[in-house]
Amino acid sequence: MNSEYMVKKQRSRAAAAGITAGIIAAGSLLLSPAGPAAAHDGHDHEVATCAVDSAELRWGVKESFRNYISGSIANGEWITENGVTYETPAFSWANGVGSFASDLSEGSIEFTGDIHFTGHNGGLTLDVSNPKIVFTGPDAAQLVLDMGEADETGNVAYERVVAAKVDLAGYDAGDGSTLTVEEAPVALTAEGADAFNGEYGDYYAGQELDPLALNLAFSGCDLASSEATPAPSEEPEETEEAKVPISEDVEESEFPWLPVAIGGVALIVIGVTTGMLIAGNKKKPKA
Ligand code: HEM
Repeated sequence: MNSEYMVKKQRSRAAAAGITAGIIAAGSLLLSPAGPAAAHDGHDHEVATCAVDSAELRWGVKESFRNYISGSIANGEWITENGVTYETPAFSWANGVGSFASDLSEGSIEFTGDIHFTGHNGGLTLDVSNPKIVFTGPDAAQLVLDMGEADETGNVAYERVVAAKVDLAGYDAGDGSTLTVEEAPVALTAEGADAFNGEYGDYYAGQELDPLALNLAFSGCDLASSEATPAPSEEPEETEEAKVPISEDVEESEFPWLPVAIGGVALIVIGVTTGMLIAGNKKKPKA
């Protein structure tokens, strides 16, 4: 084994050690809490549970449907039961119970009470009962209903059907312990359209029902401080950022920065080491 070979071997060992050290250094830098991935991932808002103290829902179902029922075609009427009241143009349900996350990502409020629509001399009987608001995101909720024709025992054809989607954008969070929305747009789902239509109706998915009003008071959370709360006075850019659901934010940070950075550092170390080896070889006089 000649001395040139020994020198080269030692250099390549040193180069390998340098590469390993570089990779470890890059890895620990990126994994440290102050590293870019962790900083990007850090959510400083906390999602708390809001316990409902009082809840009222006002909703007219669909103005054209009320006109159809009470008009000369169906010659019908509606009666309300179990706490529901009607004052043109809306039915009201009070005493809703439930809880929800302060970013409105989950949770629900259930109301009890029935509307019985009848018409066509008994040819039409349609119940709309027990609405439930299910929160699904900062601006979105579902309206779940018991709907359809009731049998002798009072069971309806469509139980707990997701009848509509509710757009909650523009709700007022007040002092942080209330949520008020006066005219939240409500759009039928396909299941909701089926439940309304019976044999004769022609409602379709996406069709607008009457807007819905919700008045909530709750405790245990501060809705106004929630990052997800869209405040109308905020700059549009800030509002957009605040609306980004947590899951999307996390997904964004899942770009594989760590392996990319390690690869980059490794390439630099290899380049520098190779350069040093070449330079060393040039300087060394031939044996
Ligand atoms: C004897 C039975 C029935 C007859 C003759 C009948 C007839 C009609 C007619 C003529 C319309 C059109 C009204 C208009 O354009 O202004 C209509 C609308 C409608 N019907 Fe009936 N119908 C009957 C039963 C039912 C039943 C059982 C249901 C559901 C359970 C139903 C649900 C609807 C709906 C959702 C509409 C649309 C109302 C709107 O304009 O918003 N009908 N029906």
